[in-house]
Formats: sequence, C-alpha cells, structure tokens
Amino acid sequence: MRVRFPAIRKTRTLMKRLYIKSQGCQMNVYDTDRLADLLQADEEMELVDSPEEADLLLLNTCAIREKAQEKMFSEIGRWNQLKKADPSKVIGVGGCVAAQEGSAITKRAPWVDLVFGPQTLHRVPDLLQSVTAAPVGRRIAAQDVTFPEIEKFDHLPPPGIKGPEGYVSIMEGCGKYCSYCVVPYTRGEEISRPFDDILAEVRHLVAGGVREIHLLGQNVNAYSDKGEQGDIELADLIHAVAAMDQVARIRFTTSHPLEMSDCLIDCFRTQPKLVGHLHLPVQSGSDSILAAMKRGYDSARYLELVHKLRHARPGLPISSDFIVGYPGESEEDHQATLALIHKVDFDVSFSFIFSARPGTPAAELDDTTPLEVKKRRLQEVQQLLNTQADRHAQAMLGSKQTVLISDFSKKNLETLQGRTENNRQVHIDNHDPMLIGRMVECRITRVFAHSLAGELLRVLD
Ligand code: SAH
Ligand code: SF4
Ligand code: F3S
Repeated sequence: MRVRFPAIRKTRTLMKRLYIKSQGCQMNVYDTDRLADLLQADEEMELVDSPEEADLLLLNTCAIREKAQEKMFSEIGRWNQLKKADPSKVIGVGGCVAAQEGSAITKRAPWVDLVFGPQTLHRVPDLLQSVTAAPVGRRIAAQDVTFPEIEKFDHLPPPGIKGPEGYVSIMEGCGKYCSYCVVPYTRGEEISRPFDDILAEVRHLVAGGVREIHLLGQNVNAYSDKGEQGDIELADLIHAVAAMDQVARIRFTTSHPLEMSDCLIDCFRTQPKLVGHLHLPVQSGSDSILAAMKRGYDSARYLELVHKLRHARPGLPISSDFIVGYPGESEEDHQATLALIHKVDFDVSFSFIFSARPGTPAAELDDTTPLEVKKRRLQEVQQLLNTQADRHAQAMLGSKQTVLISDFSKKNLETLQGRTENNRQVHIDNHDPMLIGRMVECRITRVFAHSLAGELLRVLD
C-alpha cells in the first residue's frame, strides 16, 4: 500500500481564512471537503462560516441543469460585492461548471481569480501561489480544468472526520454518456481508484470513529480494479469494508441499472451491514425514451432488477431519479413512466424537467413540448412519487428501526438525530452524548413530512 504525505510547501500565501461551499451532488460535497482538508493541512488555513470573514472564497459548482449553473453566477455576483469592499479577497470557482465553461467564467465574471475542475482541485495551492504572486489590483486569473488521470488522490491529505458517517470516492468520472448529461464532459472518463487505496481511506475513517461508510461515484457499480489481487468489483469492496469490525453500515451511490450484477444483488441477501435501501435511477418508464437517452436498458429489465433485488432483500426500499419532458416525450411515454412508478412503488425519489445542456447530444434535438405540458407532467410524477413516499413513511409508524446516531438535532439540542436504513432522519428524545456514533434500535412514534420521531428501545452495539 502506498503511504502518502502531502507536499510540504516552502512558501505559503498569506491567505488564512477559507470559506468554501458546495453546490453539487455527494461527489461534489466530497471533493469540497477534501479540498478544505488540503488547504487546512498544506496552507494552514482555518475554515470560516461566512464569505464576509474569508480571505479566500471557493465555490464548488454543479452543471447538471441550467438552474444549478445560474445559481453559481448569482453566488459569485454576491461575492463580487465583498471583493469591491476588500480587493485583497481571492475568489475561486471549481467543480463541474468550471470544467465546462473554463475561461468563459472569468470572461463573464472578471473578479474570479482561479478556476479549477473536479480533477485538479489538488492543484489549488499552486494556482493560489501564482495568483497572489502579483500585488492586489494587478492579479491575473489562474486556471486548470484538465483531467489528469485520478492523480488528485495522491496529493490529498487523509480526509478529516466529520462524525460517524464517512464518505469515500471509489471512482471518478463517468463513461456512460447518457444523451442529456454533462457529467462525462465535466468529470472525465470513468476511472476506478485502486482497491488498496480505498481500504486505506476506510481504515483511516474507521480509526477516527466512523461507523457508516458511503461508497461514492457516479456509477459505483461499474467499479473495477484489475490489480494484483485479481478482478475486484463493487461486491468484493463491500465485503472487504464489511469485514472491518467497527464498520456498522455500508451504503453505495449512485448505481446504474446497466451494471447491477447478480453478484452485487446477492450482497443484499448475504451482507447484513449493507443497508436496506438502494438508489437506482431509472429516468423514464418509456422504452423509446430510454433508448433515446442511451441508458442501455428497457423498462422490463429495470422491473426484473427490482424483482431480483426484492427477492434478495424482501421489501427493499428503492428510490430513483426521473427526467420529465425529454425531447420528443409523448403523452404515451409519460403514461409509461407513471405506470412504472405504480409497479415499483418507490421510496423518496427525485424528478426534474429536462434541461438542455450545451455540448450534449440531447441539446441538439428538437424540443417541441410546451413548458406548461412539461410542468403538468412533472407535477403528476411528483404527486405520485410523494404519495408512495408518504405511504412508506406512514408504514414505519410503530415499527422498530435501526438508527445510527450521528449528532444532536440541529434545532433542538435536547434530542439526538440519526438515519434509518432507508435514509430517513429520526429525532430521538434523548441527549446522552455517549450515544453519538452508536447503533440503536428505536420505535417510530411520529411521522412528519421530512423526518420521523422515535423512542430509544436499546443500544445495539
Ligand atoms: N449517475 C447517476 C445520476 C447523476 S446526475 C445516474 O446515471 O443515474 C443526477 C440526476 O440528475 C440524474 O439521475 C438525472 O435524473 C438528472 N439529470 C441529469 N442530467 C439532466 C438534465 N440534462 N436535465 C434534467 N435532469 C438531469
Ligand atoms: Fe450522467 Fe448517465 Fe453518467 Fe449518470 S450514467 S452521470 S446520467 S452520463
Ligand atoms: Fe453536478 Fe457535477 Fe455532481 S454536474 S451532479 S456536481 S458530478
């Protein structure tokens, strides 16, 4: 196993206070945390809670839908006001919008000093050096949005521990090229991290008290490491992580229906530490739309997977993402999506109106469906999904649930909070700090719109 030490810099910038914000998915949050770890270790910066207090302001962006991208320009617009008052502040934009737009960002927002991509965040200290080498007022923006092959992990310090839940990226990028999606262009090709490196990171987290490991990637079930130990896939990784005594629970996200192997499905039968919940985005219930999206499966295959999964783990809660109003989507296609939702009976899921992303094949298609029609379809999909999710929540009332206590509740320090296996937040009427990081059994006593209340029955470990 390789042991890594972050480079010790001889010169440091005078930047001391860092404000950093993620606007994206779990991978983006993971990257944001790792970059904060790096700047704290390498540049001796301290994290601050507001952009007003910071010398360095970093935004890690998302480009998945147009709305997400516009969010970035509004945020850095506000930061520009702060910089006008204090021109020594340095502003950086990273993540998927940075990868996609590159220098177009500094063109539209000339107050931005550095631009970095999801695969070059480890180079931020160098970019920072080059920006701050010039005096305030004469600084030149620095940019690096290239895709160096997964080298970033070799330059990052061990991840900070933020509580009993720990996240580990097991692969980077995506090679699926779904017709509507920017991710392969913003995060690069699909590359798996070496098995040993992942286990070393998990061991580090576990030694720091982490009990629940989230294995992350855009397509985690495409994980493959053909190293010295043979061909390792996600199922092997799950068993290896589960073999660590202190690990109580394992989650993985996101999975693609195309690579849901029998071996992985079998983990839901054989591996009790794997949570009883799976996020398996289907996107549409219409076979012609799925083909146009280049998803590589049809609705029958998806239903077959659901059947196999629920055979392996009876009643397995499954959640999904949906895109409504893909170019050419007919009323019949929309009805096929509703029919599939009825058949699967999903747990809390996500749905979005198709957003044409520059550079993707779907953005070139004629899109003649009026916006009102798309909005109506979205509403129908969301209404049905909400009904199903509410029914699942109501069915939990009075049931016994296994919960990993993660912290005190944010709004009420007299209660503790944690998550059930199917990712629902539970508030427990107890404020014993010794329970944080423990697995407990509780009975669900009340069901609210976005959370549950429970009473502690017993501590499990
Ligand atoms: N890798 C995952 C999802 C990644 S993006 C998968 O393939 O399932 C998260 C979700 O954003 C997608 O599942 C999809 O529902 C949605 N999404 C992606 N591109 C979109 C677009 N152009 N317009 C609207 N929604 C989109
Ligand atoms: Fe995007 Fe498709 Fe890759 Fe998911 S699998 S990240 S939707 S290209
Ligand atoms: Fe957004 Fe990039 Fe994640 S586009 S969804 S932040 S991979």
